[in-house]
Amino acid sequence: MTAQSVILPLPSDHARFLVVRLNQLSLHDLKKQLEKFFSERDRLITQHPNEQIKTAVAFGPDLWSQLHSTAPAGFKQLDPQAGAFNMPVQPADVLIHIASQRTDICFSLSQTFFNGIQDKVEVLDERACFRYLDGRDLTGFIDGTENPQFSDDREETALLGAEAGEFAGGSFVFAQRYVHDLDKWRRLKVDAQEQVIGRTKLESIELDDDVKPENAHIARTVVEDEEGEELEILRHSLPYGDGHGDQGLFFIAYTKDLTRIDRMLQRMFGTSGDGIHDRLLHFVTAVDGAYYFAPSEHLLEQVLDLDD
Ligand code: HEM
Repeated sequence: MTAQSVILPLPSDHARFLVVRLNQLSLHDLKKQLEKFFSERDRLITQHPNEQIKTAVAFGPDLWSQLHSTAPAGFKQLDPQAGAFNMPVQPADVLIHIASQRTDICFSLSQTFFNGIQDKVEVLDERACFRYLDGRDLTGFIDGTENPQFSDDREETALLGAEAGEFAGGSFVFAQRYVHDLDKWRRLKVDAQEQVIGRTKLESIELDDDVKPENAHIARTVVEDEEGEELEILRHSLPYGDGHGDQGLFFIAYTKDLTRIDRMLQRMFGTSGDGIHDRLLHFVTAVDGAYYFAPSEHLLEQVLDLDD
C-alpha cells in the first residue's frame, strides 16, 4: 500500500503544518474540502513538477472513529507528562503536512484548504517552517543526523506492515510545537551546548559515552528493544519563526509504533522512573502535542469517499 507522499522522501526546504478541530464543519464538508485540496495539489504538481510538492493528511483518534469502523492497533490519544517538566497535550481532529521546495506553494495549498471553511473550523496552529542553514535546528545543531536515511529503513520505521491488514502503508504521527529560549541557550558556551545535545555542534559527531552526560538529549531519546536494538522513528521536524517573537521547532515524527514515542517522551520529561530528564527541556518548551494516524493513499481515498 502506498504511503502518503510526504512521509518517505527526505524533507524539502519548506513545510507548512495545519492543525485543526472541525467544530462546525461536518464530516461531509471536510471530505469535500479535502477533495478540493487534493485536486489543487495535483494541479500544482503538474504545473511545477520539480518543486517536490508532497502532503500527508492525518486524523486524531476521535475523528478517525467517525471516519472508519476500526482503528489500527495501538492508536490512542497522547498522554500528558508531569515530571521534571510538564508536557501539554492538545488533541486535534486533522493534521495536514504540506511540503515543497517553494514556500509560496505551501502557502497556496493552505489557502485552498481553508477557503470557504475558515469560519467553521478552529485552527489550533498553522506553522510555516523552513530548512535552516544545513539542516539545523535554531539551537544551531544539525537535526536529523540519526534519522533513517535510506528508503527501506524509512519505510520499515514509519509504515505499518502487511500484518496490519487494511492499515498497511499507514503511519502514526506525533506533532508537537516547541518554543526555544534562545537568549538562555546563547548564554551557554558551545561545549556546554554540546553536552546538552550529546553531539558536536559543527559536524554533529556523537560525544563518546564516557563524556556524554546521561541527561543529554540523544541519551534520553535512544530507546531499545529487549535485544538492545535501537527503536527508531522518522522525524520531519523543521524550525519556524520570524526574526522576533516565538521561534522554535515544529517537531513531527512518523512511526509504526506509538509506544516508541511514549517511551522517548517519558525519558525526556522525567517520568520514566530513573529520576533523569532531558536537559534540552531547560531551553525549549512544548506548547501542545497530539497523536494522529495518516492512512495509506488507498485507505485515505476510501474513507473520504473520493470516488463518489
Ligand atoms: C525542541 C525540541 C527538539 C530539538 C531541538 C531536538 C534536536 C535534536 C538534535 C539536534 C538531535 C541530534 C541529531 C540527530 O540525530 O537528529 C536530535 C536527535 C534525536 N531526537 Fe530530538 N529534538 C527535539 C525534540 C525531540 C522529541 C520531542 C523527540 C521524541 C519524542 C526527539 C527524538 C529524537 C531522536 C530519536 C533522536 C536521535 C537519537 C539517536 O539515535 O542518536 N527529539 N534531536
